[in-house]
Amino acid sequence: MWKLQENILEANDKQILMNFINSTDRFTQFEKVKQFESDWNAWQGCNYSTFVNSGSSADLLMLDAVKELYNLPDYSEVLVPAVTWITTVTSVIQVGLKPVFVDVNLTDLSFDYDKLEKAITPKTKIIFVTHLIGLPADMTKISAFAKAHNLIVLEDCCESHGAKHGDVKVGNLSLASTFSFYWGHHITTVEGGMICTANEELNDLFILKRSHGLARELAIAKHQKFKNLYPDINFNFLFLTKGYNVRNTELHAVIGSEQLKHLDRYIATRNANHQNYLEVIRPIADKLFLIDNPGISSFCLPFIFKSQSDSEKLKRELELNEVETRPIIGANLLRQPCLKQYGDFKNFPNAEIVHQNGFYIGNNQFVNAERIKLLGKIINEIFNN
Ligand SMILES: Cc1ncc(COP(=O)(O)O)c(C=O)c1O
Repeated sequence: MWKLQENILEANDKQILMNFINSTDRFTQFEKVKQFESDWNAWQGCNYSTFVNSGSSADLLMLDAVKELYNLPDYSEVLVPAVTWITTVTSVIQVGLKPVFVDVNLTDLSFDYDKLEKAITPKTKIIFVTHLIGLPADMTKISAFAKAHNLIVLEDCCESHGAKHGDVKVGNLSLASTFSFYWGHHITTVEGGMICTANEELNDLFILKRSHGLARELAIAKHQKFKNLYPDINFNFLFLTKGYNVRNTELHAVIGSEQLKHLDRYIATRNANHQNYLEVIRPIADKLFLIDNPGISSFCLPFIFKSQSDSEKLKRELELNEVETRPIIGANLLRQPCLKQYGDFKNFPNAEIVHQNGFYIGNNQFVNAERIKLLGKIINEIFNN
């Protein structure tokens, strides 16, 4: 059985969690969350990180705070790719902005860069990049385009921990970025997400919005200013902005700090598997859109065929061999009932190819040369005999 993800918590991670549970009475957000944020800052190489309860919450909070800090009018337009995860886009709608879809390219699965220009209107304010399935988008092109049109860039790195554009880790190439630590991702906190930025003012809004908008969540050095400003309100219940409660817990942060110690090793295994997979798909390379990039931090092993019947054939055979498959993330999001009003799916031809002819199988630290050999055997049987 080759599942999308397996028992990602190591025995020692579980032991450390049990030791923590036995040694504390404080389970809600506190010092362990701060520790994980600081560990993540060090690994990611960023200034500020805010731990929340999912990657979806991270996207929502990031967009809400950016809209507030930069005073963006309601229905300002946000360029989003036609293939990404659903909540990357629904977050845009939920904070009162408008998603404008751009087709993807079939090389790095980010925007079709030539189509960005056409999607721009006077209302466009943000480019919301997704680094899909571990592939770094071309941030040089995107940053130049954003600069030329005075747009804010945000990155969703929920599937791309450690992917690099040049020498720089994705997530450090824009105003702010998000990560997911859901079970199937490069590391897990079971459920969890992170928002990163170098902008202190924006980070303060993340901290406030994460926890009801409460002023007391800010660094202690910042408290007096607000005590002076609002002497008639009890500081314990002083709400500076419209917030949510998307906090995570000490338990998940303890898991996060332990998992982070494994992350470089997990990425190396995923990328070694990716190299072996490139070898076994070489004989059918002419049937596929090849997905590769020197900065990859492989999330999964994708197949995007030129023909739907080839895709169906391989998918069927893999499933018969107990290899789990999934569509490529949300595939063509314009086909989803909740997003239909934002465009006609037929106008996104590359997203359609991903939708009709694409699927992926799992890549993680349990995938090894033996499994990739099985993959090669299946491919060989179907396409060469
Ligand atoms: C690109 C992308 N963005 C956002 C998310 C949301 O993350 P979560 O599942 O932690 O809510 C995911 C989840 O898989 C994702 O793949």
